[in-house]
Amino acid sequence: MSQYPIAVVVGSLRKDSFNRKLATALAQLAPPEFSFKQVKIDDLPLYNQDDDARPAETVKRLKAEIIAARGLLFVTPEYNRSIPGVLKNAIDHASRPYGQSVWGGKPAGVIGMSVGAIGTAMAQQHLRNMLAYLDVPTLGQPEAFIQAKEGLFDANGNIGPDNRKFLQEWMDRYVAWVKKQAA
Ligand SMILES: Cc1cc2nc3c(=O)[nH]c(=O)nc-3n(C[C@H](O)[C@H](O)[C@H](O)COP(=O)(O)O)c2cc1C
Repeated sequence: MSQYPIAVVVGSLRKDSFNRKLATALAQLAPPEFSFKQVKIDDLPLYNQDDDARPAETVKRLKAEIIAARGLLFVTPEYNRSIPGVLKNAIDHASRPYGQSVWGGKPAGVIGMSVGAIGTAMAQQHLRNMLAYLDVPTLGQPEAFIQAKEGLFDANGNIGPDNRKFLQEWMDRYVAWVKKQAA
């Protein structure tokens, strides 16, 4: 296992999700002591507080993966000016039962990509609000609101030349910050 395993939560279940591609490409910009694992959220049941005493195996798996991580990376689209329900569902699952949230203290990066002009700004702000409540410190700057545009990814799925410098700087800041938080 790498020194800094990061749990990546992608807020889209779509097969050709831009955000999943962004999450995969971002991982390529990190140094070797970091490893990124996209956690599975598409098989979680809808959160129901009645199930707190007997959580599904998929919920136990999600919580174990978050516990094992030294940092978090949220990569999400914006749905109707907020985060997608599937992402909220995953956040709720790993926050319960009361007093047994696994999120607290894990440093998180928040980034996202959408076709709209504000590039997930509202969704990210809503997400930061939830994470603040869950005691998850988030990297404040640089903010990254990515609008889906031709050429964002190259033929190999890496970040294309137009955005590479900015996203490399974003990753460098994220890496330094996770190391500082984990020290
Ligand atoms: C239910 C729904 C709501 C959406 N709402 C927004 C929105 O509020 N802002 C926005 O920029 N794009 C919105 N979009 C468009 C998404 O940016 C677009 O579908 C994007 O491809 C989603 O990310 P993904 O490719 O990772 O699935 C919405 C899409 C859906 C399906």
